[in-house]
Amino acid sequence: MKSPIIVNVENISKSFANNGQVKQILKDISIDINRGEIVSILGESGCGKSTLLNLIGGFDSASEGQIIMEGQKVTHPSRKCIMLFQDYGLFPWKTVQKNVEVGLEVTNANPAERLEKALKYLRLVGLEEKVHLFPHQISGGMQQRVAIARALAIQPELILMDEPFAALDTFNRYYLQDELLKIQSQERTTIILVTHDIDEAIYLSDRILIMSSNPGKIHKELTVPMSKPRDRSSSDFQYFRKIILEEFHFNRPGVPLEYNI
Ligand SMILES: Nc1ncnc2c1ncn2[C@@H]1O[C@H](COP(=O)(O)OP(=O)(O)OP(=O)(O)O)[C@@H](O)[C@H]1O
Ligand SMILES: [Mg+2]
Repeated sequence: MKSPIIVNVENISKSFANNGQVKQILKDISIDINRGEIVSILGESGCGKSTLLNLIGGFDSASEGQIIMEGQKVTHPSRKCIMLFQDYGLFPWKTVQKNVEVGLEVTNANPAERLEKALKYLRLVGLEEKVHLFPHQISGGMQQRVAIARALAIQPELILMDEPFAALDTFNRYYLQDELLKIQSQERTTIILVTHDIDEAIYLSDRILIMSSNPGKIHKELTVPMSKPRDRSSSDFQYFRKIILEEFHFNRPGVPLEYNI
């Protein structure tokens, strides 16, 4: 039987040298990620969130500690783990459909299977009518959906998302958050998501990791046991918002919470 834990981050530290000075960015981070879980990482700018995601994805190596994915030490990127960047990473000269097909070249699917899968996942994100258009002919939210379809079509074990919805307006963001939850519940993909958006973290996550900075550490871990889909105006939701705002010291004493957001 497969282990319920898909990723172990074991005592990770990371330092970078800048202008001859070595600076510790991450210090002694340990996290276990369970299969099928959505885990958000929240923290102020520069605390090392993207650095941590890059290490988990095998795009960079840790100064100390190790990352184990499905029992094997992560030393390089693999198709089991896909990174979804904020700038979508689409090829402008390829159509929506070809952008998804090209992602599948890393799998051993033949061209007919690639086409079938590309269409299936584009249908899942509601873009079946846009398959022959080029990225510049569709909206930013749709481009992000193409990027999500491309990542999901590969059927990775783990998707790493670095502020995937940050550039979108509220409506597109809410729409895509719902789409992501729908697809994730069908596929049981594990997702680690970096976000600045407290509501997004509460809406999507089974667990929220709050980082502190200089050096970046996991300051607090919150389990969010509410069933999904979640009601953003419910008292439970407000409760988690309050806890997180207090962690970041955004809550002014004596002022009702709604004026602090
Ligand atoms: N390749 C690198 N070389 C040197 N320093 C780096 C490198 N990558 C990141 N850093 C430094 O590490 C720190 C953390 O960067 P990181 O990009 O992980 O932050 P972040 O939490 O993702 O911030 P943001 O929320 O703004 O995206 C920053 O001080 C940054 O300057
Ligand atoms: Mg970042």
